[in-house]
Amino acid sequence: MKLCVALDLPSAKENLELAESLKSYDNIWMKVGFRAYIRDGKPFIEALKKINQNFKIFLDMKLYDIPNTMADASEEIAKLGVDMFNIHASSGAVAMKTVMKRLSTYENRPLVLAVTALTSFDEDSFSSIYGESIGEKAKEFAKMSYENGLDGVVCSAFESRAIKEATSDSFLTLCPAIRPFGEDAEDQQRVATLELAKKEMVDFPVIGRPIYRDINPKEKVKRILEAI
Ligand code: C5P
Repeated sequence: MKLCVALDLPSAKENLELAESLKSYDNIWMKVGFRAYIRDGKPFIEALKKINQNFKIFLDMKLYDIPNTMADASEEIAKLGVDMFNIHASSGAVAMKTVMKRLSTYENRPLVLAVTALTSFDEDSFSSIYGESIGEKAKEFAKMSYENGLDGVVCSAFESRAIKEATSDSFLTLCPAIRPFGEDAEDQQRVATLELAKKEMVDFPVIGRPIYRDINPKEKVKRILEAI
């Protein structure tokens, strides 16, 4: 299991200060989302790598477009030198194949994950779009991603084990809505502790607020890494 820290602070300066405070930890991933990347772009990725070149970077862009446009964007992402990014599973099998084929020429291509169901959906709003329950569709999307050569999926910790059973133990699961030691769920619907995430074979717990809102993020990460 590898910790993925969500860099969701309101400015590049604050995100970089957080990263700086965690630079003694070699084995962690940093999640760069829409907000940070749209605002701070490629120089932000470079600044993170400068703080610790062993930080792994997950660019959370959730691509969704026609297959060729997604493949073009994936190639640009690979050129940024990030270690992992994601696309929406609902962009379909052809988009997945096209993206993976385009990246196959890169020696150290980034890992590619597919978003199954956004955690903000409840069952009703999800089925009004996808016509199925979240659990069933997430499994179906995961199988499709696995069959088309992706490396894993973004899903809820509660779906991680079933997804691995339907695909492979080595098919990665990256799961937000983790409250390591039972902290406040805030706006997340179904939160899981680290203990549960471990039981559910989660590969990447994504943790934001429980780290950056802590009075001592460095100490919090230490506790999380010990628990992992
Ligand atoms: O602060 P917290 O630990 O809840 O942050 C979770 C992170 O995971 C945020 O960056 C959020 O955007 C992201 N995320 C999520 N649910 C998804 C996909 C991403 O919470 N389905």
